[in-house]
Amino acid sequence: MPSDNPGPAGPAAVLCGLAGWVPPRVVTNDDLAARLDTDETWIRTRTGIRRRHVVEPGQATSDLAVEAGRRALRSSGSETADAVIVTTTTPDRPCPATAPVVAARLGLAGAAAFDVGAVCTGFVYGLATAAGLIAAGVARRVLLIGADTYSTVVDPLDRGNAIIFGDGAGAVVLRAGDADESGAVGPFDLGSDGAHEDLVTIAAGGSRQRSTGAEPTHAERHFAMRGKEVYRHAVTRMAASARTVLTDAGWKTDDVDHFVPHQANLRILHSVADDLALPRERCVANIEAVGNTGAASIPLALADAVAERRLRPGDRLLLTAFGGGLTWGSCLTTWPESAPRPQPERTTR
Ligand code: UT7
Repeated sequence: MPSDNPGPAGPAAVLCGLAGWVPPRVVTNDDLAARLDTDETWIRTRTGIRRRHVVEPGQATSDLAVEAGRRALRSSGSETADAVIVTTTTPDRPCPATAPVVAARLGLAGAAAFDVGAVCTGFVYGLATAAGLIAAGVARRVLLIGADTYSTVVDPLDRGNAIIFGDGAGAVVLRAGDADESGAVGPFDLGSDGAHEDLVTIAAGGSRQRSTGAEPTHAERHFAMRGKEVYRHAVTRMAASARTVLTDAGWKTDDVDHFVPHQANLRILHSVADDLALPRERCVANIEAVGNTGAASIPLALADAVAERRLRPGDRLLLTAFGGGLTWGSCLTTWPESAPRPQPERTTR
């Protein structure tokens, strides 16, 4: 999106609910080292991750999305929404979308419901989509859920990816309001470069593979990532995107109280913060406890920051994400005055 984007003409989208949920089962680095050619120290020092949560057999992305969505609605003080967006790379099935069943299970049948796919950038794309629905007058309250179950697509014997990813869901509620209210989201910067589609893939299950008529191989059925190349793109694209929204809003880097990046790898997060000349202490990170949870990672990090009483009304936030596609995006917001109500404890312990 060009940086001369004039912004929405209608009502602004204002944050009024937030929650995260991770499945109870924990996989530690030691658990992984027991079955893979890796060790606890390598994982911790190269990624910042100590443990992650994974689903039980039979549990699907929608199950996590419903838990996070219900808690987010509750935290907003109202159980209603007229649109439900689920952003995910691991939908329950290729068809139908996951959002309608999530909406129905939350008692929101009748609401507009659809999925957004932008891999690990999904939450920022979803925020922009929700803001667009509100600005266009299509919806007054939107429930946006980022949910992923990477444990269902990563080959458990792939040491490059099995160590990074975890399962989880995070959700926010946005209501129609004014652009100058605290909690209003925007401006946004969104971008993509499909020339690098092969860096992050699940080759099988879509029309490209199915139209061949051939049975997919083991590798094609699983998530694949060229980690080192992705790493380099992640740092440069996230930093550039962050700079674009800061410039659009007229904020200086020092105006940012909390940098909330997609939790890809702690080293990536710190490199982006360093590149932006942001003190690392302003970086909100819970990757240690949850790993990389894809589209869930930003709202899960926010939920944990709220539970730790780290975010104060009026604080300025910079959200930045990067993912397969390639895709990237950033958004600014201020922390709302009243809701979302803080949760009693971190969701991810
Ligand atoms: O969510 C958005 C998209 N994803 C990301 O942004 C993730 C981006 N990538 C990464 O986070 C990192 O590239 C990884 C964590 C995937 C890998 O870390 P790295 O520091 O880039 O390691 P590497 O791939 O350069 O490998 C370094 C060495 C290699 O050994 P040699 O060739 O130097 O002897 C690997 O074979 O580490 C080896 N290695 C491992 N060793 C122990 C790779 N994975 C492991 C492992 N345990 N799990």
